[in-house]
Amino acid sequence: MQIQFPYSFLWGAALSSYQCEGDNVNSDWYLWEKEKGLISSASACRHYHLFDQDFQLASKLNLNSLRISLEWARIHPEPATFSLEELTHYQKVIDALIKYNLKPIVTLHHFTNPLWFAKKGGWGEVKNIDYFLSFLKKTVEALKERVDLWIIFNEPLVYIYNSFILGIWPPGVRSLSEGKRVLNNILAAHLTGYQEIKRIYQDSGVNPQVSMAKSLRIFSPSPGPNFILNSLTAGLRSQLFNFRILNYLTKKNALDFIGLNYYCREFSKFKGLIGEESDYKPKRGRQNYLGWNVYSQGFYKLLKRLKRYNLPIIITENGTAENKDSLYEDFLIGHLKSLALAMKEGVDIRGYLWWSLMDNFEWDKGFGPRFGLTEVNYSTFERKLKPFAYTYGKICKDNRIEV
Ligand code: BGC
Repeated sequence: MQIQFPYSFLWGAALSSYQCEGDNVNSDWYLWEKEKGLISSASACRHYHLFDQDFQLASKLNLNSLRISLEWARIHPEPATFSLEELTHYQKVIDALIKYNLKPIVTLHHFTNPLWFAKKGGWGEVKNIDYFLSFLKKTVEALKERVDLWIIFNEPLVYIYNSFILGIWPPGVRSLSEGKRVLNNILAAHLTGYQEIKRIYQDSGVNPQVSMAKSLRIFSPSPGPNFILNSLTAGLRSQLFNFRILNYLTKKNALDFIGLNYYCREFSKFKGLIGEESDYKPKRGRQNYLGWNVYSQGFYKLLKRLKRYNLPIIITENGTAENKDSLYEDFLIGHLKSLALAMKEGVDIRGYLWWSLMDNFEWDKGFGPRFGLTEVNYSTFERKLKPFAYTYGKICKDNRIEV
């Protein structure tokens, strides 16, 4: 059976500034890499200079949308200063997207902060929320003629988990109470930021669509003697990590659509208050390059569960890191089939963005994992489309899939 997508369906890919641009020397991550002796993001993909070429490749694949992020530290280099030069740079970046018929979807915060913001206590301090909001205001005003789809935060819980619970990302804190404080401050920034964006467009005749990119996983109980406790833990973790923020923000009417990032399935085990991920690997499943449990049926299940919010959904990230082309293709097709079935059964999905347009800097894991449609040679910065990208390009062009 063939499933046809609506004419207006957004086919795209996603990327983030820090992971691709290179030389973001004023961001908290840059210092972190140095201090911790991690692999340096250095010039990353040189995307800051090569963006036109990257977008041209995206248009070659028949994509009609692209999710990018803006580097806060570039636009807002000091607490009371905004860089006109960097705002102009991002205007040029977005003009290039438009030139290649790629609808811009713009993220304002994708894990990184200006160093000065981090030094003032970052997201742990209520008083710092205003710094972010002044960046948001300045930036949205500068780009409002070009952009009407905004993501304020990317994956707040992933950020908090790594930066404030595990302590493996900057600022390297390990404290549940600090994590909770940060979450409250980020949610407060989202709520005010949402209103602010609506206000900025007030007399423009455009109603910008504003959301969050929310990471969701399937949580399954790890088998074994503790199965019942593990089941309770999986249910709790699903509620906490998947649905709590969505319930809160939808009740406040502060999401115009759901931005869904989906990668994998977690097997949970009982431990302490909130449990943890077990290393159980099911015999019938497969793991990707990073050991993540690939589970395309889970994508279908989550999409069906999101239907109850009665909001349109855009898949703001879905993808994998592999070392064999056929595995990317297998992942892509499996997940697109799940998506098409969910749509057929009435879930209102408006777009699908592959993570990522190009191989890039995978945070603490450096350049090993490759998520891109485009392969990047980190010595010469040459780009080359991977074979599976052509399969994706054909689906985008045909706007339909065989299920
Ligand atoms: C993040 C990306 C990251 C990707 C793969 C997502 O959670 O938004 O920044 O590269 O996952 O790990």
